[in-house]
Amino acid sequence: MKIVGNIEKARQFTRRRIAEGKTVALVPTMGALHEGHFSLIKAARNQCDAVIVSIFVNPTQFGPSEDLASYPSTPDADHLACERLGVDMIFAPDVGTMYGQDCLTEVRVKELSATMCGRDRPVHFAGVCTVVAKLFNIIPAHKAFFGAKDYQQAVIIRRMGADLNFPIEIVVCPTVREADGLALSSRNAYLSPQQRKQASALYASLKMADEMIRREHPPAGQVISAMQEHLAANAPDGRIDYMQILDPHTLRDVENTEQPVLVALAVKLGKARLIDNILVDESENRP
Ligand code: PAJ
Repeated sequence: MKIVGNIEKARQFTRRRIAEGKTVALVPTMGALHEGHFSLIKAARNQCDAVIVSIFVNPTQFGPSEDLASYPSTPDADHLACERLGVDMIFAPDVGTMYGQDCLTEVRVKELSATMCGRDRPVHFAGVCTVVAKLFNIIPAHKAFFGAKDYQQAVIIRRMGADLNFPIEIVVCPTVREADGLALSSRNAYLSPQQRKQASALYASLKMADEMIRREHPPAGQVISAMQEHLAANAPDGRIDYMQILDPHTLRDVENTEQPVLVALAVKLGKARLIDNILVDESENRP
C-alpha cells in the first residue's frame, strides 16, 4: 500500500491503474477510521480493481466555532486498517498542498445546502463540495463511495457530480450502527459514558417515526412531536438542532408522509453534534 501526500503522484498512480484497464474507486474520508468507513472501503474493494482512500481533515468545511482543532486523528491505526482491507493507496495531503496560498474558488450546490445541516452550518457544504471536487480532479476514479449516514452530503455530492459533469459514479452505502443503534461516527469519541447511553435514543426515535409512518401515515408534525417527546424522556441532555421529515430527493419539508420520506435529525449532546436519518420507503428494501 502506498501513502502519498503529493497531488501529481496521486494522479499518476490513478492514471497508471486506468491505463492498465483497471477500475478505480475513491473513498473520501477525514480519518479516525471506524467500521462505517471500513464498510465503504469493503464495498469499493468488491466493486473495483483498485481502491484509493483519501484522508484529509478539510478545514473549509468547519465553522469558526466548530471542532477542527480537536478533530480526532489516528494515522497509525488508519494505515494499518487500510493495509488489512487491501487498499492500494492512501492519499493524505497536508492543507498547504490541497489549498495552496490563495484558493479563490468555491463550489456551492444551492438549495440542497440551505436546509438541515446547512441551516446551522452555513459554510459546511461549500467546504465539502470544494474539497470533493478537488479530490475528483486529483483522483479521476470511476466510482466514489459515500455513507447514507451523511444523507444530505450524499445527495449534494450526487447533484454536484451531475451539474458539473464529473464522469464519476456516486455509490451510497448503508449506515453502520453500534448494537444499540447509534450510528458510528468519529465524533462519538466526544461522548461521556452518560451521554453515550442517552445517544441511543436518537436512532430509537427514528425507528419510532419509521413505525408510525408505515402504520398510519400521520402528518409530519405529529411524528416530529412524538420524536421530540421520546428524546426529552430518553436523552434529557440532548439539544435538538433540527428534526425534519423531507422529500428524499429535493430535501424539502413534507407534511404528507404517504410518499417515501426521509426522517432526519441533528442533536447536540455535550461536545458532540450527532446526526442520523432513516429513509421510509415502502417500495424499496431499506439501506
Ligand atoms: P468522514 O466524516 O470521515 O466520513 C467519510 C465517509 O464515511 C462519508 O461518506 C460518511 O458518510 C461515511 N460514514 C461515516 N460514518 C458512517 C457510518 N456509520 N456508516 C456508513 N458510512 C459512514 O464525510 C466526510 O468525512 C467529509 O465530509 C468528506 C466527504 C471526506 C469531505 O471532506
